[in-house]
Amino acid sequence: MLVLSVFMASLMSLTWAQTSRWGPCPTPKVQPNFSLEKYLGRWYEIAKLPTRFARGKCIEANYSLRRDGTIRVLNKQFYKEKTRSAEGTAVIPDPREPSRIGVSFSYFTPYSPYLVLSTDYEEVAVVYSCTDVLRIFHIEFAWVLSRARFLPPETFRYAEELLLGEGIDLSPMTFTDQTGCKDD
Ligand SMILES: *[C@@H]1O[C@H](CO)[C@@H](O)[C@H](O)[C@H]1NC(C)=O
Ligand SMILES: *[C@@H]1O[C@H](CO)[C@@H](O)[C@H](O)[C@H]1NC(C)=O
Repeated sequence: MLVLSVFMASLMSLTWAQTSRWGPCPTPKVQPNFSLEKYLGRWYEIAKLPTRFARGKCIEANYSLRRDGTIRVLNKQFYKEKTRSAEGTAVIPDPREPSRIGVSFSYFTPYSPYLVLSTDYEEVAVVYSCTDVLRIFHIEFAWVLSRARFLPPETFRYAEELLLGEGIDLSPMTFTDQTGCKDD
């Protein structure tokens, strides 16, 4: 047990310090009557609870349907003078709960939860992801996405208040630079 707690303490402080919290994942309310069809297309990342893997600017994602019924996720970002993209797959494991999506960027990694907490489909989406680690602590991510590279401050406040209302700590939130991007 001591070894385990030392291991976890170092894991938390080294890797996930800002996005891990004690206890199991919270269970936030999700978008009622979520329509995947209306959600598809391009979303720009306005802000996120930090993730270690995306450090670029102009971050966007394009969701589209594949013929096999899975969702193609094409993430793009500008990093070190280059546009880089990564293709992933999203699925809706339970059609009765369509706002609970799973996303994976590799055949070798499990699907991570992708919960659409709220969206109006036309301006803003608030997305949350949480993974339990041994039910002792959890690792969480959150994203504020927008259909445009700029989100009006009052809409951003709405997204922030929604996350705060679910007890999610926004102090590690970072804004994504969406200026000087190449538009296609
Ligand atoms: C969800 O859709 C059903 C059927 O269309 C409707 O009766 C219900 O009011 C909707 N709920 C919300 C929260 O929009
Ligand atoms: C998103 O991907 C689909 C499917 O590849 C493509 O048809 C569409 O043009 C893309 N949209 C944007 C905005 O890049």
